[in-house]
Amino acid sequence: MIGDLEGIMAVENACFPPGERYDESLFRRRLSGPPYDIAFERKYFVATSYSSKIVGYAEAAIQDSGTVLFGTVTPFIDAFGKLDRKVGALISIGVLPKLQGKGIGSRLVDARLAYLQENGIHQVFAQAWPNGGFPHLAPKLGFTLIPGWEGRKYEDGTTQKLYYKRI
Ligand SMILES: CC(C)(COP(=O)(O)OP(=O)(O)OC[C@H]1O[C@@H](n2cnc3c(N)ncnc32)[C@H](O)[C@@H]1OP(=O)(O)O)[C@@H](O)C(=O)NCCC(=O)NCCS
Repeated sequence: MIGDLEGIMAVENACFPPGERYDESLFRRRLSGPPYDIAFERKYFVATSYSSKIVGYAEAAIQDSGTVLFGTVTPFIDAFGKLDRKVGALISIGVLPKLQGKGIGSRLVDARLAYLQENGIHQVFAQAWPNGGFPHLAPKLGFTLIPGWEGRKYEDGTTQKLYYKRI
């Protein structure tokens, strides 16, 4: 909800270098708009402290497979087979640096997987920055790197990767 904007921005700014942050207008639009886009249903998850301060956030989407988020789907089909009509996407995740390593990120992933499962989704994808934290979380949470899938280039010269998990 829009009331989470300030807390989510604080996490985003603390977690990502300037060139890799989502800007406030995008969060504002997504948090205040209806959850349904043309091809996406988006949902934000926040982790809060006992004093209700937002200490972590993550975004999930239910979307038509083959939409622009994944670019080419060929590497997935080559490695895993057919795509379902609707799939889940884990889009972004951040936990305030001083609270990282305490299991909050894993709980945010679990919450998103539970939401997707409750909505009948079996195939889940997560885009990841190779120098970010998700590649460390991925194997522990049962995600597999999709071989041959390459997304956009980051400012640090690395290329976005895509992970997959069946739920
Ligand atoms: C990724 C992130 C959300 C993980 O949150 P977290 O609360 O630290 O995650 P957890 O405490 O649940 O960690 C789970 C495991 O992954 C490991 N891990 C997570 N991030 C790691 C990192 N950057 N480097 C090394 N290991 C990491 C933890 O050590 C832990 O391992 P363990 O189970 O053996 O103890 C957090 O590190 C973060 O906000 N990073 C900056 C933003 C970012 O990189 N987002 C993802 C973009 S791809």
